[in-house]
Amino acid sequence: MTVHIGAEVGQIAETVLMPGDPYRARWAAETFLEGAELVNEVRGMLGYTGTWRGHRVTIQGSGMGMPSLSIYANELITTYGAQTLVRIGSCGGMQPHVGIRDVIIAMTASTITSPSSGIMRELNYAPCADWGLLKAAVAAAEAKGTTTHVGGIYSSDVFYAERPDLDEQMVRHGILGVEMEAAELYTLAARHGRRALAVLTVSDHLQTGEALPSDERERSFGDMVEIALHAAFD
Ligand code: ADE
Repeated sequence: MTVHIGAEVGQIAETVLMPGDPYRARWAAETFLEGAELVNEVRGMLGYTGTWRGHRVTIQGSGMGMPSLSIYANELITTYGAQTLVRIGSCGGMQPHVGIRDVIIAMTASTITSPSSGIMRELNYAPCADWGLLKAAVAAAEAKGTTTHVGGIYSSDVFYAERPDLDEQMVRHGILGVEMEAAELYTLAARHGRRALAVLTVSDHLQTGEALPSDERERSFGDMVEIALHAAFD
């Protein structure tokens, strides 16, 4: 057990999918895993371990934002020996050609600040995805026929952003979407020699103001979960 995860060592698989929302962890486990068992419910941050096509996998909620994700990813890596960590979550689209329901596979994740900023100091570190996971995710998305974009995203510390000038620069520099966790996940994975990737579904759009209706979310998010599972095991 750790401070935030109640599972025994051995109850967590080497491959962990990490949605921000604990209820989405439950939904994904019930929908995609065989023999899913609840392995964590500390603070309601649900985690399940089961199998997908014979491969052992844990789906553990990360909470929202990099400080929360940092707690779970650190404990998964250092105590439970997680080797492959794939964030599955939603993001806001930033480019005109990125549509609601599209999937974004994050090659890089820019930030202004993250929990790791303190140790990076003057280094403008560039958090990037694991190449093997990225390549396999792209192949899986192509095989499924999901409209998918691959490139840079922005990991924000705020959902309610008040910097239109910053959005403008990100759009100008090709940032595909905004979420709140991937940069710290990529940085922690690099620090500990693990593999990480973020596969995201566009749930809203900063330019058009469009948002995915809640009743459509599950179906759209299903593609993302399957792409993440293929990325980890193909
Ligand atoms: N996650 C989903 N949509 C988002 C947005 N617009 N900003 C930050 N995180 C998000």
